[in-house]
Amino acid sequence: MKFLIINGPNLNMLGIREPDKYGNETYEALLDKITKHCETKGIDVLFFQSNHEGDLVDCIQDAYFEKVDAIVINPGAYTHTSIALLDAVNAVKIPTAEVHISDVSVREDFRQISYIRSACVFTVMGHGTDGYLEAIDYLVEKLEK
Ligand code: DQA
Repeated sequence: MKFLIINGPNLNMLGIREPDKYGNETYEALLDKITKHCETKGIDVLFFQSNHEGDLVDCIQDAYFEKVDAIVINPGAYTHTSIALLDAVNAVKIPTAEVHISDVSVREDFRQISYIRSACVFTVMGHGTDGYLEAIDYLVEKLEK
């Protein structure tokens, strides 16, 4: 199985940005944790992070041609603004899980909209970076069925 983990804007700043909301773990430590988790499940994992909406759309489209089996995406602030990311996930029809480190449901009003959610098979929020592992486990189970 080939999984793609996509992180949107400012998630490369993990460990530096607002640790009260996003914790102290760095982006590199997160990739390490996900890599180790995927190893135990025999998953090939690819990573992509960008601060640019179009690059995230390109990455989702490329996943179709690279025959990626599942996508885990934390779209960052583009969660709340991007119809282009929603359209990209609907276009490729690859099972996709939405992850948020913080619990966006109890934050500002503008974080209550997620455009991408309707295209996703699973959403996890507020479980810190463990949410990425939960999303991977959900997708593995779904693909094995
Ligand atoms: C986030 C929540 C978003 O509202 C925010 O813009 C982020 C991170 C999260 O992981 O909790 O950048 O997606």
